[in-house]
Formats: sequence, structure tokens, C-alpha cells
Amino acid sequence: MKDNKQTNLQYLIIMGFCVFPYNRQTKDSQTRLLLLKQSVKSSRTSSRCIVEKTPTSQGFVESLNIPPAVIQKFSESEDVIGEGRYGTCTKVLIHGIVACAKSLKVSSRSSMSAIAHEATILSRVRHPHICFLIGIQVTKEPFQLITSLYSIEGVSITVYDTFSMNTVGVKKHVIKSLHPSLTLQVWLFLMKNLAEALQFIHSKGIVDRDLKSDNVVLTKLGDSTRGILVDFGKSNYVDKVSRYKLSEKEKQQYRQDHKHIAPDLVDGVSDITTACDMYSYGHLFKSIIQYFPLAIESIEISLQKDIKKCLKYDCMQRPSAKQMVELLNSTLDS
Ligand SMILES: Nc1ncnc2c1ncn2[C@@H]1O[C@H](COP(=O)(O)OP(=O)(O)OP(=O)(O)O)[C@@H](O)[C@H]1O
Ligand SMILES: [Mg+2]
Repeated sequence: MKDNKQTNLQYLIIMGFCVFPYNRQTKDSQTRLLLLKQSVKSSRTSSRCIVEKTPTSQGFVESLNIPPAVIQKFSESEDVIGEGRYGTCTKVLIHGIVACAKSLKVSSRSSMSAIAHEATILSRVRHPHICFLIGIQVTKEPFQLITSLYSIEGVSITVYDTFSMNTVGVKKHVIKSLHPSLTLQVWLFLMKNLAEALQFIHSKGIVDRDLKSDNVVLTKLGDSTRGILVDFGKSNYVDKVSRYKLSEKEKQQYRQDHKHIAPDLVDGVSDITTACDMYSYGHLFKSIIQYFPLAIESIEISLQKDIKKCLKYDCMQRPSAKQMVELLNSTLDS
């Protein structure tokens, strides 16, 4: 109930941001405009994104900017809710509403370009199972990407967290109480929702490029557990990304560190297409089946086969997100 109230308030605030962007209020906009000009240029060569051209317009990014004074600390402690290779996410308050602020562990110029890039992509993929962009803060360092916060009992829980036995403190407690509810039905529903999110992204000509268990956060909608896709730092338009060109040594390292990335991409034998997300999707599905004692044999044979097909080296043999949605719909209906 409290969650629902919070969600409603969040939406009101978010709609407020969408209708009345803060761009016209800033004092040091000249400095920021200069930095943005440079960052939009530099985002085209960002190594993180393997981007050739980022379709980020300066004016549009400006319109998403939130004045720093609006973003307040959630509490006196730092309130880190999650950390990845590039970003640290903390809880913040925006007009009293809890949100997630991601700042990047890179130089200010590339941080601004990466945040502008991720915000641009997120603004084009509004979907119930994709994290909701509230805005960005690029006036004062550390620059921030502000999204809705997804949590269970106030704690950010990823699918990866549910696999892990090594969590501590409140997180451990929340995961323990969550475990009994994570049934085969719940996982199938969550995977269907993620396939719907991918189908939507792909229909916009965008590839996620980083679908993995720690980029899916869990949230509750009433009694049901939902999965929300986060981290669009590597996403881009399919025609703006180039093939991987890695040395033999880099390939080896990449295979070890990024098991969710399609092997044909790492080998540089395929272009980056929507099929690369389907490999990551299959990898995530397989991990869930491995970590949870799910009665997988009770899943329709066709679905079992398609999970395997997602993991084919030959990207042409992988099913599309739309096909996965259809299969999961028929499995859940039966
Ligand atoms: N909107 C959100 N709500 C709740 N938790 C979030 C949200 N966004 C991110 N997180 C948490 O913060 C972590 C780090 O965020 P994110 O994945 O965006 O950073 P990253 O450094 O780009 O990650 P990676 O190492 O995958 O590249 C996530 O794994 C997740 O635990
Ligand atoms: Mg991540």
C-alpha cells in the first residue's frame, strides 16, 4: 500500500519533470553548455560504448537537467544502493521522493558524455519493465543520472543478489524472506516481462548490449515480484555500434569477465545486432535455472529448446525477443 502511494507520487513528480523541464532556470548554463558541447562530441569516441555516433542532441540533454539544489541526500550516511564497474548508485530525495542517483567513476568529461548518452537512450525507451529516467544533473560534479528507485523493503535487490549466498546485513534478510516466493511461475513471468522490454527496445532500433543478472533489479507490484532492466550505459542504436576488434589476449580476458556477451561478438565475426541481446537473455535464463531448484522439466519442451537456441554461436539461429514473448505467453497460459 505504502509502495503504491510512493509509486503514484513518483509518477506525479516524473510527469512534472517531463512537462516542466528545469533547463531554463540554471545560472551557469554557459559553462555547462560548453562542457556539454565537448561531451556530446567526446561521447562519439567513448571506449565504454564502442560508439561511432551518439544521437544525443545538446538541447535535448540540457532539457533533462535538474538543478543540484533539488537533489538532496536521503540521510547523513552515503546510502549506496549498488555499485557496478563504472557507476555508484545512491539513494537521493527529489522533492522528498526517494530516487536513484548514479554517478560514474571516470573523468568529468567522459562522465558527462556517458550520462548524457545513457539518459538519451533511456528517454527513448519508456517501458513498464525498464528503469524510469527522471533526469540528469550535469551542473556540478559528480554528475548524476537520476532514475526511479526500485527496491524491496527499501533495499535494491538484483537477480544476481538472489543467486548469492554472500550478502550481508539487511540485504541478506530481505533476500532470505524473498526466496520462498521466487517460484518457477514468478521467474517465467519475470523473463516474459524482460523479453517484452527487449522486444520494445529492439523495435526502436536499440540494442541493450549488457543484459545480465546484476542489471535486473527486483521490485514488488502488489504481491507480485517484477524485474526491471537497468544500466543502459552500453546501449545504442544498432546502426551506431561497430564490430568488436579484440586481440587474442583481450578476447580471452573478455570471455572470462563477460560471460553474458555472445561469443561471436567477442570473436569479431558478427555485427552487433539484436541477436546479441538474445544470447545474454539465454544466459540469464540459464543462470536462473541453474541457481534455483526449478522444476524445469515441467516447462514446455519448445521453451527449453528456445532457451538453448538463444545460446547458439550462430546468431542467426537465436530466437527473437518477440518469439520468446509468444512462447512464454503460451507456457504461462497452459
Ligand atoms: N534504478 C535503480 N534502482 C535500484 N537499484 C539500482 C538502480 N539502478 C542501478 N541500481 C543498482 O546499482 C548497481 C550499479 O548500477 P549500474 O548497473 O547502472 O552501474 P554500472 O557501473 O554501469 O554497472 P556495470 O558494472 O554492469 O557496467 C546495479 O547493479 C543495481 O544493483
Ligand atoms: Mg550494471
